[in-house]
Amino acid sequence: MSSRRKFIQQSALFASGALITATASSWSTSIDEVFPIDYSSIDNMNDDEFWAWVRTCFTTSSNIINLNNGGVSPQPKQVQDTHIKYYEWCNEAPTYYMWRSLDEGREPLRRKLAKFCGTDPEEISINRNATEALNTIIFGLDLNEGDEIVMGKYDYPNMRNAWKQREKRDKIQLKWVELNMPITNDDSIYQSYASAITAKTKIVYLTHLINWTGQIIPTEVMKRIADLAHKIGAEVIVDGAHSFAHTEYLIPELGCDYYGTSLHKWMCAPFGSGLMYIKKDKIKKVWALLSNDQPDGDNIRKFETLGTRSFASEMAIGSAIDFHNAIGSERKENRLFFLKKYWTDKVKNLPGIEFYSPLEKKYSCAIANIGIEGMKGSEIEAALFKNRKVHTVAIEYENVNGIRVTPNVYTSLEDLDELVAGIKELVIK
Ligand SMILES: Cc1ncc(COP(=O)(O)O)c(C=O)c1O
Repeated sequence: MSSRRKFIQQSALFASGALITATASSWSTSIDEVFPIDYSSIDNMNDDEFWAWVRTCFTTSSNIINLNNGGVSPQPKQVQDTHIKYYEWCNEAPTYYMWRSLDEGREPLRRKLAKFCGTDPEEISINRNATEALNTIIFGLDLNEGDEIVMGKYDYPNMRNAWKQREKRDKIQLKWVELNMPITNDDSIYQSYASAITAKTKIVYLTHLINWTGQIIPTEVMKRIADLAHKIGAEVIVDGAHSFAHTEYLIPELGCDYYGTSLHKWMCAPFGSGLMYIKKDKIKKVWALLSNDQPDGDNIRKFETLGTRSFASEMAIGSAIDFHNAIGSERKENRLFFLKKYWTDKVKNLPGIEFYSPLEKKYSCAIANIGIEGMKGSEIEAALFKNRKVHTVAIEYENVNGIRVTPNVYTSLEDLDELVAGIKELVIK
């Protein structure tokens, strides 16, 4: 039986509401073996049937249309059930089931994540989110007064603030790159960063997919910038929070030394799950933020001394990877782009519409940020929710004044038709 079909059988079982009430003693038994049900017809689904089936795997509100999947994603029922099942096991005898039994899954999970990322498992640390991963790197590197950090004005606030703290405390110099978004010229993107890099640059900090607008810096441009940084002896940190499991790539293709992402965004893993990648030969030089007995050691596990936390949510990450793989990275990326194109095509020629995002495939995927002449982003957001119960998020930052619209794999075309109708009501008075 193909692993995809096997997975689908399990998911369909969960989606059908037949929640498995296995006990901790069946930890090593696959759900398939407990409930051998044949769902082979799923393999014969056409595209529409397949995406309709994906929708049934989620438990999202049927009344509110959630188009803010960029903030955080809901989890498929299969992931929720795995999480809850593990949580219940932990409550039977926490120190035994959490630390001795469930934690047996840590190394298999590390290998599974590494396979997805295209890295060595010894380069992957499992943690709670992108903020934790990237702060660990930002605060863990030795830097001296006057060292320069090249970073973007549109990087995520938590990490901009971390760098600003180091600037205050350690007197490093921050050099801010401005991107004139939407931007669809590889050389312009490259030049914006290249012109800020000097002999004093120690770190180039890049965001692969910018959260405010959905702007993608193409993987090959990321690599070009990384190559330039390496040439002058600098290192590269990448924020992959929004591109991971959204667009298809492997971490080494970015050419970076350090990388962090959340898994509760596009991987649809439990809330509060993330990973950090550090190139093998760089692990030693990053001090652990939450120290273990070898804070300057070269074992990636030194970053996992996080104290007591939910092992149930960590271990349910594996279930989210299974779900993602059942769809497939390429198919998911294409679907997400299709959903964005579906609604943007219907409104892009209306009067007073402005997109802060590129709409081309190479530079964008699921996310688009739309503005309406004469309205603030917050006014558009409020009107869409009041009139159509369409939930988006207003972005009023730097030159951007619109709403960010982010569908996900469970989003239906009918949901997007509501969005389009809502926008038309605001534009055509
Ligand atoms: C680009 C980017 N980086 C980092 C983060 C932080 O993610 P988290 O809150 O999961 O740490 C976000 C959150 O939206 C983001 O968009």
